[in-house]
Amino acid sequence: MLSISVLITICLKFWTVECLNNGLALTPPMGWMTWERFRCITDCELYPNDCISEKLIKRQADLMVSEGYLKAGYEYIVVDDCWMDKERDSDGRLKPAPKRFPNGIKALADYVHSKGLKFGIYENFGTYTCAGYPGMFEHVEIDVETFASWEVDYIKVDACYSYKTLSAMEEGYIHLGQLLNKTGRPIVYSCSWPAYFEPFGIQANYSVLAKACNLWRNWDDIDDSWGNVTNILKWFSKNQDRLNPYHGPGHWNDPDMLLLGNFGLSYDQSKAQMAIWAIMAAPLLMSTDLSTVEPRIKNILQNKEVIAINQDSLGMPGVLKMTVKKIDVWMKPILPIVEGSHTIAVGFLSNRIDGYPYKVDVRLSDLGLHHPRGYVLSNIFDTFEPNIYYSVDTLTVKVNPSGVVLLKLTPASEEIDVYY
Ligand code: GLA
Repeated sequence: MLSISVLITICLKFWTVECLNNGLALTPPMGWMTWERFRCITDCELYPNDCISEKLIKRQADLMVSEGYLKAGYEYIVVDDCWMDKERDSDGRLKPAPKRFPNGIKALADYVHSKGLKFGIYENFGTYTCAGYPGMFEHVEIDVETFASWEVDYIKVDACYSYKTLSAMEEGYIHLGQLLNKTGRPIVYSCSWPAYFEPFGIQANYSVLAKACNLWRNWDDIDDSWGNVTNILKWFSKNQDRLNPYHGPGHWNDPDMLLLGNFGLSYDQSKAQMAIWAIMAAPLLMSTDLSTVEPRIKNILQNKEVIAINQDSLGMPGVLKMTVKKIDVWMKPILPIVEGSHTIAVGFLSNRIDGYPYKVDVRLSDLGLHHPRGYVLSNIFDTFEPNIYYSVDTLTVKVNPSGVVLLKLTPASEEIDVYY
C-alpha cells in the first residue's frame, strides 16, 4: 500500500495530468452552508433570524467558533443562493442585496476571516441561479475577478439554466477552474454539473471532474428527511464502482449537506447520517441554525473519532460491502496500516422499521478482514466488549431501526494491547 506522502508525490509529479492543480481539499471539506436550512429566505421582516443576510452569516460564524465547531474541524462558512441583488451593477459586476448585506461581501468575508474561518459563496454557471438571481453566463471572467477581490476561499458553482450537453458543461467548468487558478487565490472549487445529468440517466465523466474540481454534487438535493438520506445512499451505493475510483484527496463526490440539528432526523438517524457520511469520506457541510443545536446532536457533529474517520488522510471512499437482513454494512479503510493491513471503519446501518434493535452477525472473513493477529475493536458511539477479533470470529451488533453502529477495527500488532 502506498503511503500518503508517496501518493502526494505521484500527484505532484503528474500534476497537470491527473490532479486539479490547486492543492486544496486534501481531506473532505468541512464547514457550514446556508441552503438546506435557510433556503432562499429573503424577507427579513417575516424571518428576522433566518433570512440570508450578513447578520445570519456573522451570527453563525460567531457560533462556529464559540460552540467549538471550528476547533472540531469545520472551517468553511458558505453562503448559498439568494445573496445577490437581482441586477448586476453598471460595470456588469455582481452585487449583494443591499438591505441584507449593507456592508458588502468583502466586509463579510473579512469578518469571517477575522474569526479564523474561511468564506465561501455560491454562483451558477448558467444565465440565472436556480433561485433566479444573475448567473455567470457571459460574465465568467469578471465574476472570478470579483470573487478573488472579495477574498473568497470556496465557490459552489451550480448548473441551473445552463448548457444542455455534457461536453459543453465540461468545457465551461474547466475554463472556470482555470480562471480561478489564475487568480492565485486558493479557492476550493465545487462543481454541480453531474447533478443535472445523472438523475436523467446521463452519466458524468468522473475522470474529467476529478481533474477539474475539488468536489462535485452528483445527485439530487438533500431535504430534511430520513427518506432523502436513504435515497441518496441508495444512489451512491448503486453507483459506487463507477464513482469511487475518482474520489480521493483533492477531489470528492458530494452527497450533499448534513441535516443534523434540524427538524427531520431522529437522534438515531442523526448518528446514522454522520457515520455514513464519515465512511463515505463525504464533505461534512452542516446546514443548521447553530444556536439551536441540542447538546447531544452537537456531540455527534463534533465527535472526534467520527471526524477522524472522515478526515483520514488516505481519503479512501467507503463502500457498501453487503446487506444482511436489511442492515447495510459500509466499510472504509483508514490509517493506521499495521503490517500491511488497514484499519477499517465499519458502519452497520439499519433499513429496518420493525421496532426493535435488531441483532446481526457478521464474520470478519466475510468482510474481507484477514489480519493474522486479529483486530482491536472500538465502538465509536457506544460501549462494546473489548476484545481481539480474528477473521474466523463473528461480530454481533444490535442496530436500532434507522440507526447505526459504527465500529473501528485496528489490526493488532505485537505492541497493541487490548484496552480493558
Ligand atoms: C440547487 C442546488 C442546491 C442549492 C440551490 C440554490 O438546487 O442543488 O444545493 O444550491 O440550487 O438555489
